[in-house]
Amino acid sequence: MIHKKIYFVYFSPTGTTKKVLNTMMKVINGESVAHDFTPFHAKYETIRFEQQDILVIGFPVYSGRVPATFTERIALLEGNNTPAIIVATYGNRDYDDALIEMKSLLTGREIMPIAAAAFVTEHNMCPKIATGRPDNNDLQEIALFTSRAFEQIKSIEYPKYYDLHVKGDSNYRDYLLMPMQPHSAENCNHCGICANLCPAGAIPLESPQQTDNERCIRCMRCIRVCPVQARKLTEQQKLGAEKHLSKYMIYRHNETFLCNK
Ligand SMILES: Cc1cc2nc3c(=O)[nH]c(=O)nc-3n(C[C@H](O)[C@H](O)[C@H](O)COP(=O)(O)O)c2cc1C
Repeated sequence: MIHKKIYFVYFSPTGTTKKVLNTMMKVINGESVAHDFTPFHAKYETIRFEQQDILVIGFPVYSGRVPATFTERIALLEGNNTPAIIVATYGNRDYDDALIEMKSLLTGREIMPIAAAAFVTEHNMCPKIATGRPDNNDLQEIALFTSRAFEQIKSIEYPKYYDLHVKGDSNYRDYLLMPMQPHSAENCNHCGICANLCPAGAIPLESPQQTDNERCIRCMRCIRVCPVQARKLTEQQKLGAEKHLSKYMIYRHNETFLCNK
């Protein structure tokens, strides 16, 4: 089958997932279009895919799951037995049920996962975990996976249904949030960049030095985008994350899955 358009849809508060998808984009030939589903203050519209299109969907693992904020936005995707590649990035602890959850979300939208990957990346709450990943070796593995996944998609036959097997338990893990809400320090100049880019609308546009802790999803984006480093975690929060994650300072390998033909 000749494929028409390749869609890259992603949620990437601190940019690592976007980097992985950009690497994939460079490998493929064909017309591609990217949709960033990260900001809260954006005008989102339904995206309808045809059977001949391909969807690549990327997200970071949160608490072993698909981030709930992204789950809500996935309701805007409408497939038509459209083949998809699932890409999860995770900070070297585990990706638990994230792939199986995304598989189910997509299947429910008439999108058919054909390939999936869980790539190890530096942990954005504690950069001592998986520091510098994806590294050059990871980027090569990402490129190889991309070629294999697209080859697999090229060879699918309709109307056959392909059931992709991925790791995970369909009784999803409970969604737990660490007490890691960033705050604004005194040098905040109220520029509003963090408020505009927050994925959860947790920073009021009119008073960006505040944080709505109920809405905050602890994604660390405000810390990453602040031009004067005014958004911060406390030393206690940083030490808490380090203590909690220290047992994951081991090397973990990327994992990939392709459906059986
Ligand atoms: C709220 C939150 C929860 C996270 N949960 C996990 C997890 O369960 N397992 C893991 O290995 N990494 C976890 N991480 C690390 C991210 O998955 C990882 O840093 C990811 O690459 C960030 O992607 P991004 O840069 O595209 O936002 C978590 C990060 C955050 C902010």
